[in-house]
Amino acid sequence: MKVVTTRAEVREERAALGRLGFVPTMGYLHDGHLSLVREARARSEHVAASIFVNPTQFGPGEDLASYPRDPERDLALLEEAGVDLVWLPQPGDVYPSGFATSVEVGDVADVLEGASRPGHFRGVATVVAILLGVVRPDLLLVGQKDLQQSVVLRRLAADLSLVDEVVVCPTGREPDGLALSSRNAYLDEEDRRAATVLSRALRAGRAAYDAGERDAETLRRVIRDVVAAEPRAEIDYVSLADPETLVELQGPVDRAAASMAVRVGRPRLLDNTLLHAPDPGLG
Ligand code: PAF
Repeated sequence: MKVVTTRAEVREERAALGRLGFVPTMGYLHDGHLSLVREARARSEHVAASIFVNPTQFGPGEDLASYPRDPERDLALLEEAGVDLVWLPQPGDVYPSGFATSVEVGDVADVLEGASRPGHFRGVATVVAILLGVVRPDLLLVGQKDLQQSVVLRRLAADLSLVDEVVVCPTGREPDGLALSSRNAYLDEEDRRAATVLSRALRAGRAAYDAGERDAETLRRVIRDVVAAEPRAEIDYVSLADPETLVELQGPVDRAAASMAVRVGRPRLLDNTLLHAPDPGLG
């Protein structure tokens, strides 16, 4: 496995590789990231990954400085998973002096996470455009755990022709249902227990949908009521939206993405499920 820092080194190493799957990360890897690597290996000849805690997607007062980092462990995990090339840049390699461009993706980036974290998706779209422009992969692999990010990145990739295919892989979960996230490291013991409320609430929404409930407001309320019953959980939003446009649904629904952002102790946790599609991981 080659580990490189500069844009020029990435280009040189990439030129020697064939059909390439690419997994961008901010490090502190867990099995969710490794499942993306496994999927990339299954679909392409070679696999590249990046580890970069992207400053432009963090707002003022967010956890940029304290975001968990362990590059040595990350590199060992990526090597074991069979990755061929890792880009581990310094901020100046990604944003060289004079850097002035930013990428705005439009309406899908303005709701939900975009509304709660202004500028977040500008930072995500900009860094992913840079990563794709430098790495030039054939496919990009991202997790469904960050549902809105996957919608934004599909739009970005299609609009700017940055990569042929965006593959969205299922959310990795702990045995009790908690979605895998690097920020789970912030949970203390009590909050860790309480954090299962997100997946429990989504399961309740799925059970109502599977039993025939189709009214958007009722489904949203079923999910919200489960979260609201957990005293340690502070709801940012509970959404029932169109899976492609992320516009909030009203009245009878068919295809629906249920998603939420909930603060439990220190971290703000995200989770989601597509009510109209199987979600075996959620149980
Ligand atoms: O999902 C993440 O870890 C980040 O948002 C990404 C896609 C690596 C961009 O910094």
